[in-house]
Amino acid sequence: TDQYAVVGNPIAHSKSPAIHQRFAAQTNQDLTYNTLLAPLDAFEQTVKDFFAQGGKGLNVTVPFKQNAWHYAQQLTDAAKRAGAVNTLWLDQENQLCGDNTDGVGLVTDLEINQQVVLKNKKILILGAGGAVRGVLEPIISKQPAKITIANRTVAKADKLADDFADLMAMEAANFSALSETFDIIINGTSASLHGDIPPLPDVVIGPQTICYDMMYSAEATAFNQWAKQKGSQKQIDGLGMLLEQAAAAFYIWRGVNPTTKNVIEKIRHEL
Ligand code: ATR
Repeated sequence: TDQYAVVGNPIAHSKSPAIHQRFAAQTNQDLTYNTLLAPLDAFEQTVKDFFAQGGKGLNVTVPFKQNAWHYAQQLTDAAKRAGAVNTLWLDQENQLCGDNTDGVGLVTDLEINQQVVLKNKKILILGAGGAVRGVLEPIISKQPAKITIANRTVAKADKLADDFADLMAMEAANFSALSETFDIIINGTSASLHGDIPPLPDVVIGPQTICYDMMYSAEATAFNQWAKQKGSQKQIDGLGMLLEQAAAAFYIWRGVNPTTKNVIEKIRHEL
């Protein structure tokens, strides 16, 4: 039986074991998937021990995604850009490989599950931290008409736009400077965690605007409640992104694509 785990700190409440165990049952894969608590100062040793003991793959979550990026010996292009790794495995030569499936997870949830096409759309992204950096490359690859990155600290949005300038010219702004209506707004700030909403001018939302919060919760997130009240067409939370990043990791490890739809519904029910 092949062993997998999600490593983080804290980790007890992770939904990844429930998700991957369902994927395994559905696709008849013989594997176990557990949580792995790493001490804050011993991520690398924890990973080393896991693979030395025959472990096949790890997901990486808060606060270790950047540690994993530094520790991996081989990175996919998406991971290089993301500056963070959420999936680890060993290749044929026993090299530790890292990918970041968060961005693919977000784009798959939007385009496949929600039928929201990104090509030629005007996209507003809120936030300029690690979560946003992690998803930019796959979003850009869908060729939107325009991407504006708005952040409380505008210098961080500027830096992000600079770091991806070879892929696409993006605008950086602070919230109050926004003066147009967008097709899609993606909230990647951690404001929702505290029930806060970025102070956006009303003009950014029109009746056709689709809003996506990378956070999820049993109730509508603060951002999605606000987006609904402002009359946006649709509000989506990040649970589908969680499922799709997991499915992408599962595919890397096992070479089979699980079906996410019924698993999303089950996990939603358990929130
Ligand atoms: P993460 O890994 O979740 O992206 P991060 O790198 O600390 O965490 O980034 C958090 C993001 O949420 C940043 O864009 C931050 O804005 P600043 O760069 O100005 O700090 C944003 N953020 C956090 N709390 C916020 C709030 N209450 N209102 C608006 N933006 C907030």
